Amino acid sequence: MNPVLTQAVQTEEDAETEGVDVDAELAAAIMSRRIIQSLITVEAWEGYTFADHQIKIKESHDLYGAVMWPSAIVLCYFLDTHRETYNLLDKNVIELGAGTGLVSIVTSLLGAKVTSTDLPEVLSNLQYNVLRNTRGSCRHPPRVTELSWGKELEQHFPQAACHYDYVFAADVVYCHPYLAELLDTFDHLCQDGTEILWAMRFRLDRENQFVERFQTRFRLDELYDLPSLSIKLYRASRKEMGRKTRSGEAA
Ligand SMILES: C[S@@+](CC[C@H](N)C(=O)[O-])C[C@H]1O[C@@H](n2cnc3c(N)ncnc32)[C@H](O)[C@@H]1O
Repeated sequence: MNPVLTQAVQTEEDAETEGVDVDAELAAAIMSRRIIQSLITVEAWEGYTFADHQIKIKESHDLYGAVMWPSAIVLCYFLDTHRETYNLLDKNVIELGAGTGLVSIVTSLLGAKVTSTDLPEVLSNLQYNVLRNTRGSCRHPPRVTELSWGKELEQHFPQAACHYDYVFAADVVYCHPYLAELLDTFDHLCQDGTEILWAMRFRLDRENQFVERFQTRFRLDELYDLPSLSIKLYRASRKEMGRKTRSGEAA
């Protein structure tokens, strides 16, 4: 083979190997935050170390939202290891599809004012986990409340009163019929200065296309690419600045 070509192929292979190493190392560091529970225990829980705390999460296997998903661990790891760039102290944060609550808990322990949301059937387990892990240890007691994507958003989260610094979401895109409503919800909650941190687990093509639809309204940057976990972590903000009124005119 032509030596220049050989070198080019070699460089490409080196870059690929390097990418694989970075992925494997980062994925291992993220997953090392799981606490391995002793086999002898009266209560089943999932444990994690974040924000200088040991966090215990109760799961229930009959609901999507009551199980821990790896995307939440990825987002928590990022927040915990980027405390200076993402200083959450006194920031207004809302989490969509919070599930068992790990992201909301870590965010509260890092000092933010957190609104943790999900469907009604998930809220009691979510409330239990959030209370158990934040009571007496956080600056602002987190609020757990219903937010069904696309439903009565202006009524329960009026744009004039609710300004969020961050919208967090982990593994909210999968085979459910509410992708358009999810996009509208991001849109409603995102105002000037709001940043979205979204951990996306890639599964089926149909759902993966959500990323393209999302990009029609939001600017998107990739913070992590973890092929071994099929997860990417994105940062996003609204494309068009200047909040819109209901009639569609700039406010
Ligand atoms: C795969 S789970 C992820 C849970 C959590 N974020 C995590 O990463 O562990 C998806 C979450 O989205 C919530 N969800 C699904 N459809 C929803 C909807 N229409 N409105 C609000 N939340 C919804 C589910 O209840 C569940 O908590």
